[in-house]
Formats: sequence, structure tokens, C-alpha cells
Amino acid sequence: MQIRRCSIVMFEPRAEVALDLDRLLKGEAGLGTTMQWYALAAHLDAALKVDAADVALLGRILPDTWVDAAHGNMAGADIERLLHTGLLISDDAAHAVHRERDQRVRDAGWWPLSALAHRLGRWSGIDSAQQMRKEKLVTAQDLRNRFGPPPPAVMPPATEPLVLPPTEDEPRDLLLARRATCRNFDRARSLPLHLLAQALKRTVKAHAVVQPGEDMAFLKKHVPSGGGLHPLETHVIALDVDGLAAGVYHYHALEHTLRPLPVDGTGLRDRVLTLLAGQDWFSAAPLHIIQVARFPRSFWKYRNHPKAYRAVLLDAGHLSQQWMLSATELGLAAYVTAAINEVDIEALLGLDGIDASPVMMCGLGWRAAEQTTSEFDPLQQVWPA
Ligand SMILES: Cc1cc2nc3c(=O)[nH]c(=O)nc-3n(C[C@H](O)[C@H](O)[C@H](O)COP(=O)(O)O)c2cc1C
Repeated sequence: MQIRRCSIVMFEPRAEVALDLDRLLKGEAGLGTTMQWYALAAHLDAALKVDAADVALLGRILPDTWVDAAHGNMAGADIERLLHTGLLISDDAAHAVHRERDQRVRDAGWWPLSALAHRLGRWSGIDSAQQMRKEKLVTAQDLRNRFGPPPPAVMPPATEPLVLPPTEDEPRDLLLARRATCRNFDRARSLPLHLLAQALKRTVKAHAVVQPGEDMAFLKKHVPSGGGLHPLETHVIALDVDGLAAGVYHYHALEHTLRPLPVDGTGLRDRVLTLLAGQDWFSAAPLHIIQVARFPRSFWKYRNHPKAYRAVLLDAGHLSQQWMLSATELGLAAYVTAAINEVDIEALLGLDGIDASPVMMCGLGWRAAEQTTSEFDPLQQVWPA
């Protein structure tokens, strides 16, 4: 059997507080702090407990060269255990799942720290809304009580200012002022298909394609993209859209078309609530989009690049603002959130979380007549006094 180390792994010495029975019996404070090594690997779903000997062993095995498992003085039991966890990779059929995942990490071109940040920052089954309520961290005052005052809203100036000339408000300024994240969707009102089409056209549609070679295509959209690569792919969840069956669709940016995905539509609204990490103020929207990053598209140019992942996330930011402004202009309401259960979305869409993984969700619909969840509208543009 040939073995090698997995491609991306880093080790974290973590301080862990636990009940210490010995100390408790001696009449001392019952909590003790111990140090524990964790292995963080880009093809695994969670950090793995390892010991110092594992760290040393893994530090001796090359990631890019296959060696015979019997070669050198490595204990067979340790090798077998590390193969089982996936920190070591082998050519044996028994370890095919780890080997294939590790190969996808190698092929994708991740910068190691970005790979770990994305992989280990993914959520599964988190109810962030419930946690927020349970920990009484809902309002600004709650946060102030727990954490003290926030850093100043603007960096305190140290020098005299240069005053900028006044400018007239134009229609564009008025539109910008009307944009506010919607947390009160009208559950009873469906979304007309032509308004969805308009929002998609303005935000994620490709309006031109340039082909510098037979096997290369670059899209022109109304939003910028790092390297012009547009690695974000749009998936649509229709809950209540006129003329569109409830379900999950893939949006084709060049064709400006939707294709249903083989996803069972029953209980879809509840599933959306899970995808949105329990944020019921967003799940009430009749239409949601998921932005899935196809990382190899970006990393094709930005190979193992420290800025590449950041550029993908910045793309998502541009897209969401365009989405919100398009919605506002159409008289609709919209949201964007990064608080999503990525692992659950990957399961829904059949993604592996290495090559392709969601980075945000947005929604679209009509604002309700009443504000039950607070929105940030100090200029009273959306909710007149
Ligand atoms: C990247 C990003 C993530 C956000 N995530 C959430 C979220 O998880 N839940 C939420 O209620 N609002 C979320 N928001 C909305 C912000 O809370 C909102 O933009 C902010 O309060 C300012 O209000 P405004 O958008 O109405 O100006 C998010 C906004 C952005 C840009």
C-alpha cells in the first residue's frame, strides 16, 4: 500500500477547559485547562483531535510523494488510524473516499488558509435566531450590555477637515436612500415571474460573452468580478412565484433560463428556514437565491492565491447590493444574509463543499404592511412615522 499525507492540514494547539475530578476531590476549583492538538484539514468536515506524536508523524510524511506504508519506522497501527481519519491518504480501495476528496482539494487550487477558513466555517443545522434569543443578544442594547460600547462608528478625526462641495439629490440618490434590508415579507403575496426575471437580468444575467479561444468563455455582467471570472452560480428557490412551480432551480446566466433540479418540493419553506439558520424574518419571502461559488473557476487564474477567496466573497457583496437596488427600484423588498447552513445547502444541491459551496443567500418579495421584526430605517423611507 502506498501512502502520502493529505494535501492541506494545519495543527492548532487549543486550550480546553474541562471538569478535573482530581482537583475537585482535593477541594480545589473543579475546572482545569488542558492543551489539546487539533488537525484542521481542507477535505474533512471537522477538526480532529490528534496527539503530539501524530503531529510529529504527519510532519515527516510528504504530501506530494507516495511512499510504501511499510517503508521507514512507522508503526502500522498509527498509520492505519491516520488513514482511517483521512489525515493520511492511501491508494487502497478502502480509503477511496478520503483520497477522492483530497484529490479535489489538490485540483481546485486552494490557498491553504482560505481552504480551511471556508471548510471549517461552514454550518450544519445551526439555528442562529434561536441562539441569539437564548443568549439575549438581539438588540443593540443587549450587545452593549454584554460587550460594552462598540468601537466608534467613524474613526475619530485628528486633523481639520476639507469640506466637500454640496451635491443635488438626483433620482439615483433617492433610490439608494429607499434601500433597506427587509425583515417583514408579506407571506400572502406571490412574486410575479416577470419581476423575478427583471431582478435576475439586472443582477446575475450575462449580457455578453467573449471567447478568446474555442475552449474559453468570459461573461459580461452588470456586476464586477475578480479576474472577470464570475465564479458565482445562481440557484433559485421558488416558494410562491406566479407561473413557476415551487421548487429549486438552476439559473443559466447566458441563456437567462431556469432548469428545475430534482429536489422534492414538499416542506420546502421549512427547509428554507433551516438553510437560513432559523431566520424566520427572511424565510417568509416568496423567492430566495443561493449564490454558489465554483472555486476552481476563480482559482484557474488565481492558483493557490492568498487573495482569491477574498475576491470571491467581494463578488458576492457586489451582487447583493445590485440585487437589493434592483428590488428597490422595482418596488420590491429584498434581503441578503451570510448566516446560512452551508452543509445543508450542499446536501440540497448535491455539492461537495470543496469545488462548489454556497457563500450567501438573498431573497425577494413584497414588504408586509406591518413591521413586526425591526428594520433599519432611520430616514423613514420605508416605514413612515
Ligand atoms: C454580508 C451581509 C450579511 C448579512 N447578514 C444578515 C443576517 O444574517 N441577518 C439579518 O437579519 N441581516 C443581515 N444582513 C443585513 C444587515 O443587518 C443590514 O444590512 C444592516 O443592518 C443595515 O441595514 P440596511 O441594509 O437596511 O441598511 C446582512 C447584510 C450583509 C451585507
